[in-house]
Amino acid sequence: MKEQILRYVSPEYPWADRFTFLPQVNSTNDYLKKLAAQGAPHGTVALSDHQTGGHGRRGRSFLSPPGVGLYLSILLRPGCPPTQLMHLTCAAGVAMCNAIEKSVGFRPGIKWTNDIVYEKRKLGGILTELRLNPQGLVDYAIVGIGINCCQNPQDFPPEIREVAGSLAMVTGQTVDRFRVAAAELDALYAMSRGLLEPEAMLTQYRKDCVTIGQEVSLVRGEEVRHGRALDVDAEGALVVQFADGHTEAVNSGEVSVRGMYGYV
Ligand code: BTN
Repeated sequence: MKEQILRYVSPEYPWADRFTFLPQVNSTNDYLKKLAAQGAPHGTVALSDHQTGGHGRRGRSFLSPPGVGLYLSILLRPGCPPTQLMHLTCAAGVAMCNAIEKSVGFRPGIKWTNDIVYEKRKLGGILTELRLNPQGLVDYAIVGIGINCCQNPQDFPPEIREVAGSLAMVTGQTVDRFRVAAAELDALYAMSRGLLEPEAMLTQYRKDCVTIGQEVSLVRGEEVRHGRALDVDAEGALVVQFADGHTEAVNSGEVSVRGMYGYV
């Protein structure tokens, strides 16, 4: 699969020799953590056809069956303080919208912060993990992305069948995973180059984010609060207005957001 994917990346893509394809792996994020500990460089990518232990945020599992999806992680070593990477998951979301638009022909939306969605169905998700060095700078960031490419509705288990989707379900056509994977590599390289100047990316994120303008439920442990999402701030936090009129910027590490009228 590696050669078929690299055939489609742009000639400027500089990290072809840092790209590994794994027919099966527990989790590409966990795999890259091990490589990172051995000193793997900025731009290292692991892509798998099948994860046996794919996971998402809050310890949830991410279904990663063979032959139908793309499960990819990239290792970044920007060497900056973590405060300069607060928007990293947003940047990866915009990169995935760019990649899907380029390779499949439609632009999905983003459910704040990390779900790639289209018409109330989740097409994929992003899991960002950081490790700091003893000086408090980012030793590495790993951005893991899972995209459902070729599934039909009956391929999803009944409990998520109403809310899960795939690129093929949106287009009604066969999806070429090699082209999607190559577009992901190009988009992530472009993302890495603009990482420390995020203004234009955030402007695009606000356009792609389907949560802005919606009534939302904010879940923090046992506590559930209702409000309206107004904006996404410069650090990628969701600005929410509550019934008494006051606003708060909520962080994705602290709360999860549910639409009040369905999954999105
Ligand atoms: C989520 O939906 O909460 C995020 C899902 C992230 C899944 C991707 S698939 C590649 C990488 N490896 C993992 O174990 N998780 C991420």
